[in-house]
Amino acid sequence: MIPVCEPKLSGKELEYVTDCIKTNWISSKGKYITEFEEKFSKYCGAKYGIATCNGTTALHLALASLGIKSGDEVIIPTFTMIATANSVTYTGAKPVLVDSEPKTWNIDPSKIEEKITKRTKAIMVMHTYGHSCDMGPITEVAKEHDLWVIEDAAEAHGAEYKGKRVGALGDAGCFSFYANKIITTGEGGMVVTNDEKIAEMLRLLRDQAFEPKRFLHRYIGFNYRMTNLQAAIGVAQMGVIDESVETRRRNARFYNSLLKDVEGITLPPEAPWAKNVYWMYTVLVENSFGMERDKLMVYLKEKGIDTRSAFYPIHIQPVYAEQYKGEKYPVAGKLGRKGVNLPSGNTLTKDQIRFIVETIASAKG
Ligand SMILES: Cc1ncc(COP(=O)(O)O)c(C=O)c1O
Repeated sequence: MIPVCEPKLSGKELEYVTDCIKTNWISSKGKYITEFEEKFSKYCGAKYGIATCNGTTALHLALASLGIKSGDEVIIPTFTMIATANSVTYTGAKPVLVDSEPKTWNIDPSKIEEKITKRTKAIMVMHTYGHSCDMGPITEVAKEHDLWVIEDAAEAHGAEYKGKRVGALGDAGCFSFYANKIITTGEGGMVVTNDEKIAEMLRLLRDQAFEPKRFLHRYIGFNYRMTNLQAAIGVAQMGVIDESVETRRRNARFYNSLLKDVEGITLPPEAPWAKNVYWMYTVLVENSFGMERDKLMVYLKEKGIDTRSAFYPIHIQPVYAEQYKGEKYPVAGKLGRKGVNLPSGNTLTKDQIRFIVETIASAKG
């Protein structure tokens, strides 16, 4: 079976993890944490990096550190992974949904303002499958209404908006280092920011809100710390991050060159101002393809090719649907129905891509 994604640990991971074990530094204290935070935040063009145990906790930590709480509203795209919405829900705030724009599949900047109310405190965008949101108009509207901008960049390590890497384009940027991500620590996350005060709060709340007067707490904090073992893998992965991004982009170019002639398959977007890192190489299976997306997925599985459906939008999730009854998000709905993630990992070979495309073409009959 060709997997959708698998980690590639071909650098110094074993050497650095062995070092942690030999030196007994296995908890969230240890040299690899700060080294990973410094290296990754610098890579994003941010001054500060606060590593966490996964991407979901990075999102929740960012929201909590910006003071988002019960009664507030946070604007998010409906076409996203569940963690974007859940992290808002954890704070007691309400996720307010916006449709996607067809040209990037990301939150539609022209539909944000109509969703702003007196309760709105933040816009949390998500760079879908590695393609940056159109951040210019988003930061403009946020400035006008005095809102925080949080980037859910879990899928977009190294992605660029007008030549700048995502993560440091708003007030806080959140990443995931789960095993299928562009770089991984097994499980892991990080919030990056250029704001010293936000960074201080992130550090404080990550660590149970421990302050110099130990065991006296002024805030409700969390244990969202990353371990030195995870960070050791992260430091090793920083040594191959450029190669990892380039592999994703090279594979996408090859997929595009072969799939462009298959009728009924819409290729993933790349706006002229964007550098898509294709975390997931995702295509839309249109009606003109002649086989429904779900049937195509079964067909591919029978031939030894694993795939995933695109995200089911938040407004149709069983756990959230009641809250958004009657609301319409046609673009996100279409992406959710027709999108499929093809194998996208860094271990994928040209021959495998050729086989995947030939198999898709053969499904047309
Ligand atoms: C957009 C988005 N946000 C958040 C997350 C959560 O990250 P994690 O699985 O590390 O908690 C993911 C994970 O894939 C994601 O795709």
